[in-house]
Amino acid sequence: MKRVHLIYEHPVFQEKFRALQEEEKDRKFCRHTLEHLLDVARLMYIDALEQGLPVSKELIYATALMHDIGRIDQVEKGIPHEQAGADLCDVILPDCGFSEDEANKIKGAILHHRKAVEGAQDLFFELLYRADKRSRNCFACGMKKECNWDEEKMNLKIEY
Ligand SMILES: [Fe+2]
Ligand SMILES: [Fe+2]
Repeated sequence: MKRVHLIYEHPVFQEKFRALQEEEKDRKFCRHTLEHLLDVARLMYIDALEQGLPVSKELIYATALMHDIGRIDQVEKGIPHEQAGADLCDVILPDCGFSEDEANKIKGAILHHRKAVEGAQDLFFELLYRADKRSRNCFACGMKKECNWDEEKMNLKIEY
């Protein structure tokens, strides 16, 4: 089976993902559904193609799938979800055939996905940061006023 689908089927991924869906079922702000995870993957890949970046499609999909899986540990244990997600990479990715180098790249992007990286920019980290923000339809969201995102992160118009 392809490695990205192995992540999805991993028992730890499934446990965290299901708990998160249950926890967020009445959430009024953005939820972290499978649609969000795959929207981020597709936006990352489109961005990479448009910029002509030689980035592996498989690493993109693996990163996007893993990037918010730590949210449940943020809610339940107070661990920032970028850290919880990186820790979960250590549990899940080796079982799915990812090398240490690949896992480190995925973890780096996840650790930086909530803040734009300043200075020496890693293009792979940037792809996740941008796609994650662009995946949200803030212009059509009824919770815009209460949202804690800065205006510069929000999509206030349809971007293409
Ligand atoms: Fe996130
Ligand atoms: Fe996200």
